[in-house]
Amino acid sequence: MNDAAPNAAPQTFYLKDYKPFGYEVESVKLTFQLSPNATKVHSAIRFTPKADAEDNRFFLHGEQLSLISAKIDGTPVTARLVDGGLECDVPRTSFLWEAEVEIDPAANTALEGLYMSNGMYCTQCEAEGFRKITYYPDRPDVMSTFTVRIEGDEPVMLSNGNPTGAGEGWAEWHDPWPKPAYLFALVAGDLVNHPGSFTTKSGKDVELNIWVRPGDEGKCAFGMEALKKSMKWDEDVYGLEYDLDLFNIVAVDDFNMGAMENKGLNIFNSSCVLASPETSTDANFERIEAIIAHEYFHNWTGNRITCRDWFQLCLKEGLTVFRDAQFTADMRSEPVKRIEDVIALRARQFPEDGGPLAHPPRPEEFQEINNFYTATVYEKGAEVIGMLKRLVGDDNYYKALNLYFERHDGQACTIEDWLKVFEDATGRDLSQFKLWYSQAGTPRVKVTEDYADGTYTLTFEQSTPPTPGQPEKAPRVIPMAVGLLSPNGDEAMSTKILEISQEKQSFEFQCTVEGWRLKDCEGPERISGAPHSKPVPSILREFSAPVILERETTNSERAFLLAHDTDPFNRWEAGNALAKEVRVAMVLDGAAPDAAYLDALEKLVRDDEQDPAFRALVLSPPSQSDIAQTLHERGHTPDPQKIYDAAETFTQTLAQQLETSLPRLYAATTVEGPYVPDADGAGKRALNGRILSLLTRLDGGEQAARQYASADNMTQQYAALAALMKAEKGEAQSKAFFEQWQDDRLVMDKWFALQIACAAPEATAATAKELTQHPLFSMKNPNRFRAVMGALAGNHAGFHHASGAGYQLLAENLIALDSVNPQTTARMCAAFQTWKRYDSERQAQIQAELERILATSGLSRDTHEMVSRMLSA
Ligand code: BES
Ligand code: ZN
Repeated sequence: MNDAAPNAAPQTFYLKDYKPFGYEVESVKLTFQLSPNATKVHSAIRFTPKADAEDNRFFLHGEQLSLISAKIDGTPVTARLVDGGLECDVPRTSFLWEAEVEIDPAANTALEGLYMSNGMYCTQCEAEGFRKITYYPDRPDVMSTFTVRIEGDEPVMLSNGNPTGAGEGWAEWHDPWPKPAYLFALVAGDLVNHPGSFTTKSGKDVELNIWVRPGDEGKCAFGMEALKKSMKWDEDVYGLEYDLDLFNIVAVDDFNMGAMENKGLNIFNSSCVLASPETSTDANFERIEAIIAHEYFHNWTGNRITCRDWFQLCLKEGLTVFRDAQFTADMRSEPVKRIEDVIALRARQFPEDGGPLAHPPRPEEFQEINNFYTATVYEKGAEVIGMLKRLVGDDNYYKALNLYFERHDGQACTIEDWLKVFEDATGRDLSQFKLWYSQAGTPRVKVTEDYADGTYTLTFEQSTPPTPGQPEKAPRVIPMAVGLLSPNGDEAMSTKILEISQEKQSFEFQCTVEGWRLKDCEGPERISGAPHSKPVPSILREFSAPVILERETTNSERAFLLAHDTDPFNRWEAGNALAKEVRVAMVLDGAAPDAAYLDALEKLVRDDEQDPAFRALVLSPPSQSDIAQTLHERGHTPDPQKIYDAAETFTQTLAQQLETSLPRLYAATTVEGPYVPDADGAGKRALNGRILSLLTRLDGGEQAARQYASADNMTQQYAALAALMKAEKGEAQSKAFFEQWQDDRLVMDKWFALQIACAAPEATAATAKELTQHPLFSMKNPNRFRAVMGALAGNHAGFHHASGAGYQLLAENLIALDSVNPQTTARMCAAFQTWKRYDSERQAQIQAELERILATSGLSRDTHEMVSRMLSA
């Protein structure tokens, strides 16, 4: 079922049009009579007109509902069904609205509203899914208390809040916290629970449960521990306590997103909660810990304080991503988490910001809000908070956050409210800083240096290229973390935050008896004319702002920073920049892999003093799409096949260079003993996996085959399989893997994806196509669809193969998926967003595919918006 009439002119919503709803919703009572194809929902809602309302129209959202009856204060009324909902004449005083509707959960493949997954009922209401359950003012600024009665024969029937009664065939729930409808949830099915408990800092006992399908009980323990750690961490770091007696998590197999923070009843994609050593990799464990934390943290940043409207989405998502990143940094390694996040930001957000889909963290218009759960809203939204914290300092940050919770608890807020607490807590004017919320595009910061008479000067020039609808950009406030190193490798000035606010700005440093300091700052006395040599700058430490740094520097300076920088992020960054330079030279000039760089890598890999996780990161090449992006930024047209060839040559040369040390390194980094999914072990296994993949290029796959045969955990089994398949030596193991895991949906997703990820460029589309014909492929399960089509889009040289077969296959499958699941279709369309990077032939091929999608009759509003934006920019 599609949300829009066939290709009807789509409606656009604007931030500037915000108007409060004309009625208070005092209370909501819902009764569900569950039945797969004909569920009845009875609602009883008390409305009170607002005395000061500028608009008294009584409009309730509703989509795909069959209205059976409506009453006001017990008397039947006739409502007018209008586009997207209903209108009704209502009294001028408080009244009780009652409606009965029928819905069809079993036919709901869009997975929004009430739907069925493996025979189990579940809901997904964010952002605008509640209107598919009953008629309601489905907007986040309408908050109310919910009482829910569920009637049905499911063994377990859950909703938000606390249970208030249950009997044969029914269960009742009450949530005392007023909430917007998007946080409503209902789950019913044959479920078993993994129980736990937590005592809050004020001594309240909270019952915890993870509900799963029978058979999955053994995959809950890790998630439960993650939940307890999250609850404790939020108390310790933010002083925030949980506010109900019960916290439920449910795992469902068919889910569009990762997880959802419904009040007291979080619903998770099973891939984001179920974990066991045998079936999950280290990366899975880390992600599960983070996402459980994320959804739990929403209880305060999202649920208690929610968004006034969906334009403010980053108010809850940016902040909660920022908080879950802090949590992961505390639980694991701070620098490793930062490096991983920056890699992800560059891979997902920078292309968005530099392409046709560019929008600011707080967009000002949309057609379908589901299309704005983006890397910009989430990851850039979190970066903006990180900048704010750097600018005001830690103490002020927590002071402002305390004020935020105190002032806005129970409210639906805006970015203005958020910035105001920082202004009030610190006395700082944030009007220029606010541009980060309204301007799209990644700023470029050009850095030049000057050294004369003992004074060292850094000059920064910022500019942001135009983005769709925003031709001109104003200079922003950029916190630039800078340190200086002496040529001997000592830190000569520890990290300072330089505040850039102008288009062009210089900062002077002087040498003192104790090293370097900012001119005109308090500090040790300056030595004039002292024989200091020019320091080496370490700029944008910790990646202190989401910008692209442009600076002319040498590979030897990069190698120096890779060896000596005291900031771990910038040490990695230097290695990463070097790796990119080497690749770019290989692609553009056919150069051989740079010998000095290979030597530096070898030295680092063999240095057992260094953190294995860090060594693994330095050893991980920049992605091919990142190289394409870099070439594009420098005015070249990337050739995906050449980029692929350079990557292959480089890795093969590196393997040969390391040949004699690989067996020793492999042995030294192998983690013995029972598998524990902790950060230390994960770091070692990551390095071990990198080494195995290099070794497999040289030993014909012997070691990898041994590891595959003996592995007792998925991390090592998968690493061995990946190494073998990449070397085209994994056919037997791939078969064995299938035999072993064919009944485990989540492991099978890995099997589907890996074959496509490892395929050679010319074979990628064919491999993916064949897998879409596999009996276990399904359009109805988003995880499976993403495993195949996401892997296709993620295989850079394969997706962009000159034949155009990759583009064609993706387009065909998106067209087929659109009528099943518009939300997932629209999100996956973004695979085409970088299309203007490539040569005219590829552009023509992609354009034809995009036009083919757009011409599909009955195309969803979701996909229509995404494709038109990509075509029109
Ligand atoms: N509120 C979202 C889930 C959501 C997004 C529901 C869009 C409906 C539409 C949830 O808190 C979330 O952000 N989940 C992320 C994972 C998180 C760790 C960033 C997700 O599902 O990917
Ligand atoms: Zn979230």
